[in-house]
Amino acid sequence: MNVGIDAVAIHAGKLRLDLAETLAPALDEEPEKFTKGLGLHASSFPDVEEDIVTMGANAAHKLMERKGLTPDDIGRIDVATESAFDNAKPVSTYVAGCLEQVYDEDFHHANKGERKFACIAGTQSLDDAYNWIRAGRNRGRAALVIATDTALYARGDAGEATQGAGAVAMLIAEDPDLVTMSVEQGFGSADETDFLKPNQQFPSVDGKRSVQVYLARMREALEDYESVAEETHPDQFEYIPFHTPFPGMVRKAALLGYRHMIRDTEIEADLASAIGEQPRPDGFDDEAQYHDAVRDYMDALKETDAYAAWYDDTIEPTLDIARHVGNWYTGSVHIARASALRSAREAGIDMTGKSLLLGSYGSGAQAEIHAETVQENWTEEIDALDIDEQLAARRDISFEEYEEIHDVHNHDKEIDIDAFTTPSEEFVRDGSGPMDERT
Ligand code: CAA
Repeated sequence: MNVGIDAVAIHAGKLRLDLAETLAPALDEEPEKFTKGLGLHASSFPDVEEDIVTMGANAAHKLMERKGLTPDDIGRIDVATESAFDNAKPVSTYVAGCLEQVYDEDFHHANKGERKFACIAGTQSLDDAYNWIRAGRNRGRAALVIATDTALYARGDAGEATQGAGAVAMLIAEDPDLVTMSVEQGFGSADETDFLKPNQQFPSVDGKRSVQVYLARMREALEDYESVAEETHPDQFEYIPFHTPFPGMVRKAALLGYRHMIRDTEIEADLASAIGEQPRPDGFDDEAQYHDAVRDYMDALKETDAYAAWYDDTIEPTLDIARHVGNWYTGSVHIARASALRSAREAGIDMTGKSLLLGSYGSGAQAEIHAETVQENWTEEIDALDIDEQLAARRDISFEEYEEIHDVHNHDKEIDIDAFTTPSEEFVRDGSGPMDERT
């Protein structure tokens, strides 16, 4: 049975915070640290009337309208988020409530839930929907998966430059139009405390450690995936979308993944000789010496023409959207997939039948690797994305506006939201906070 993503719709936060021109000078940072080091140019920032419910509902509504669906076509709604405001009632019920305002039907028949495991929850929700359909429990209905987050950090946190906000709605169905998902999966999972939100809105982050944990879990997931997949070879995949908290993180993950996939192959033998004096990092008794050799080897590998060409073709196109929106947590890897396929469309590459390898990750921590196969109607799905129009329509905010709007989204601050709100055709917060408004 072929099951996977039938359609996707994206809703970006309506404001734009320029990192080089606006955030860097205010934080007394060099703009290049953000644009070159992190690889980010702007954050999509949530306007005052936006939250995870409005963004998720707007993305889902767009998707349903485009595919001509009504609530009766959908048997399951899962929201993946790490920005939830309710510890009991799932965000999917709030989203369904919004959607029911515009359809004559309701979602009484639909199984609703909320998935939490930091950023990997979006992919876990896809897995749940996939399993539900493959188990034959869907009674001909599709599943709606919505990954929605306001990825905000406390003011002054090192993560401030990686903020973002947006939602990705995905329809999971049999014989999908966009991609099928592989049965094979690989996992790397461990109890980690590098990024937490224990009953607090903004995360407590050990940023440097979080980077190392990401890489360690991703390596384990790749190893686990290789134990069940027939073959993993870097040229086998047209694109490899990774979870992208910032493109600089993906630079590190891609090098690790490439090194892992070429090890003990002819490619590695060729590269090892091209690298010349740098030894392959094995055969050391001393641990420090071994780590130095690994670092030197990886640095040299990164500089090879073969790696650079592979990175440009396979990884770079996955980062186009992230550079302009920042981290969307649960939506991030799904934006990376959309970005890659949009780039293929622009380059005139026929993707039908081609493979993607998805590297999902969530702090706390878990990585998942699975493959996807692009389906023949993928062009219609990608052409229907209006992400470029949304990004172009965003309003640039000054640093002073950013400070005020960040306060509006800070649950610990008492703010009169009516002072900021403007009327809208879309789903919006009504000024009394998400719980009061929707219960
Ligand atoms: N020109 C060019 N590059 C520059 C530069 C300049 N003037 N100044 C600094 N850089 C480079 C640095 O060399 C560094 O690159 P490398 O890592 O490749 O060496 C990069 O810019 C960032 O500089 P710092 O490491 O000094 O930056 P920082 O310590 O202030 O912040 C961070 C980095 C800790 C990752 C911070 O952004 C953070 O805490 N982010 C939130 C946590 C996060 O995203 N972690 C990622 C893994 S966890 C995850 O993926 C889950 C999730 O979604 C959060």
